[in-house]
Amino acid sequence: MNEPKRPISDGESGHVPVLLGEVLAALQPRPSETYVDLTAGRGGHAASVAAALGATGLPVLFDLDRANLDYATARVAAAGGRTPVAVHGSFASVGRELESRGLCADMVLADLGFASTQVDDAARGLSFMREGPLDMRLDPSSGMTAAELLASASERDLGDLISRYGEEPLARRIAANIVASRAIAPIKTTAQLADLVRESYGSRAHASRMHPATKTFQALRIAVNDEMGALDALLDSIQRAAQRTHDGRPSWLAPGARIAIIGFHSLEDRLVKQAFANLRKSGLASEILSGAVVANETESAANPRARSAKLRAVMVDGPSKA
Ligand SMILES: C[S@@+](CC[C@H](N)C(=O)[O-])C[C@H]1O[C@@H](n2cnc3c(N)ncnc32)[C@H](O)[C@@H]1O
Repeated sequence: MNEPKRPISDGESGHVPVLLGEVLAALQPRPSETYVDLTAGRGGHAASVAAALGATGLPVLFDLDRANLDYATARVAAAGGRTPVAVHGSFASVGRELESRGLCADMVLADLGFASTQVDDAARGLSFMREGPLDMRLDPSSGMTAAELLASASERDLGDLISRYGEEPLARRIAANIVASRAIAPIKTTAQLADLVRESYGSRAHASRMHPATKTFQALRIAVNDEMGALDALLDSIQRAAQRTHDGRPSWLAPGARIAIIGFHSLEDRLVKQAFANLRKSGLASEILSGAVVANETESAANPRARSAKLRAVMVDGPSKA
């Protein structure tokens, strides 16, 4: 594990945090506050926020990926301040994890999806550009791999998931080809799956600007990691905690807590947009940003990953005076 012992740059970490200035402007970190980073990744956002927390503020870091969590924890610790609390696991259980430690968040950030280091690592099987085993798990220590999912799911379920999570118009044809192909030999590598999808596209492959396998890979990654289930659970936990804060009851969200979420595709952004609108309509939170903030041209040109990022942010209201 390559953990940093000194302050390091985003370039060295292998992942450039998106919308960093916009995140800092939305979260407004102050000394002594508790910052909960639900997707610590390579610690880019976390190191910048932690620098504003002073000696008494507390960073709390979550990640499904043990190697990323260790890296981010060491990076944030090297930036000074208190030793971060590190939680290896899904942000779906943020409420339970914080409450069991008696912690209450003044700021929450979720920068969804995967880090550049994960997609660049052929052994993780996340990219059709790199030949590797079809794993795709963000936590390689648990759960079913993409190869296992392709081997066991019914044609109907495969079609449903490729259609729903990839918004892939050829989902049914791709699912049928997966089932026909696995009857001959198991689909074990990224290259096998990418070729199969390209063949399913036939002559249409040339018409698309995107690699034909883009949507199918996204869909499988979302399914393998239950990404929509985790986001749903997080948004539900925020809603319940904000209600308790509003009622003056103990909660893992402090009055005035700022919550920022960055999504990278329309399925994520739709859920976040709706959940934040519901919080505002029920008087549990106020707007920090009106609508979604996207990267400017300079950032988009320098970091292709930033092109699809959408940041939304709200502030949890304090107890009602009524
Ligand atoms: C986009 S990266 C975060 C990058 C980070 N903000 C930075 O500046 O380095 C997303 C990270 O979230 C992690 N992750 C994805 N889903 C998660 C979940 N449900 N719970 C915890 N971590 C998750 C991934 O393993 C990955 O390390």
